[in-house]
Amino acid sequence: MKSIENNVFWITGASSGIGRSIAELVIAKGAKVVASGRNQVALESLQLQYPDFHNNIFPLAFDLGADFDAEDLVKQVVNRFGRIDFLINNGGISQRSLTAETPLEVDRKIMETNFFGNIKIAKAVLPLMIQQGGGHIAVTSSVVGKFGFPLRSAYAASKHALHGFYESLRAENFEQNIRVTMIIPGRINTDISVNAMTAEGKKHGILDPGQATGMTSEKAAQLILKGILNHRKEIIVGKFDTIMVHIRRFLPRLFYYMARKIDPK
Ligand SMILES: NC(=O)c1ccc[n+]([C@@H]2O[C@H](COP(=O)([O-])OP(=O)(O)OC[C@H]3O[C@@H](n4cnc5c(N)ncnc54)[C@H](OP(=O)(O)O)[C@@H]3O)[C@@H](O)[C@H]2O)c1
Repeated sequence: MKSIENNVFWITGASSGIGRSIAELVIAKGAKVVASGRNQVALESLQLQYPDFHNNIFPLAFDLGADFDAEDLVKQVVNRFGRIDFLINNGGISQRSLTAETPLEVDRKIMETNFFGNIKIAKAVLPLMIQQGGGHIAVTSSVVGKFGFPLRSAYAASKHALHGFYESLRAENFEQNIRVTMIIPGRINTDISVNAMTAEGKKHGILDPGQATGMTSEKAAQLILKGILNHRKEIIVGKFDTIMVHIRRFLPRLFYYMARKIDPK
């Protein structure tokens, strides 16, 4: 694997789960890491976890679903580390609610966090990467960025939207040496279902069996980093459940049947 020592990674969703595992992996390899999420204490705990790399870690908390100043955040990162080599745009929130029971405010909250918050960061980072002569943006979508699935209508929509946005960005900026990787996880054992939004706009609060039996976030992080460093355009990561992406593509009628029958939790 190519060396990433001293490369600057800005990782959103670094306070837990997949983002945290990617942060741990790259910190241990000597990268400089801007760790973002809302939970400042969890972000700072990375510095306690890696005292030898304390100065390589910059906890930078903000809320992707709020009206944050992305340009100011980029300025803070540049003041601290001088550049951004990798943006791992990973923070996000899932959903556990039926379309018919979900108020539009909940749909909007999910879109604001997973789509608009996400692209706002990318749009603020992109000019810097172009000015630097290149950079790599990796975006965490989901297998439901490739198909729709029960209890996840707004979540699936937000992840589909990311694909359209970043495929366009990739094509527009290839000559400027900007690389884009879409990360497409199946079920990974994180708190994503615990933190998922219900129709009431509250936390689902349950570690669903799908997540509990999913791939570990550490294993997922290793495969994701390897794929990014190999300039893969898409990384499908997870256990056997990721076969649904291929079933949807090659056997759509079987997929539509399965999507109705499989336990969505
Ligand atoms: N686990 C899976 O099975 C799975 C499958 C497909 C896709 N994914 C995707 O993987 C990504 C990471 O999720 P995960 O599985 O690692 O779940 P997780 O443990 O719940 O982590 C989600 C991360 O996103 C951050 N986040 C959530 N809402 C935010 C907000 N409003 N502002 C800023 N940061 C926010 C959280 O930080 P704070 O709580 O500190 O704000 C946390 O660090 C997500 O985009 C998710 O959609 C996960």
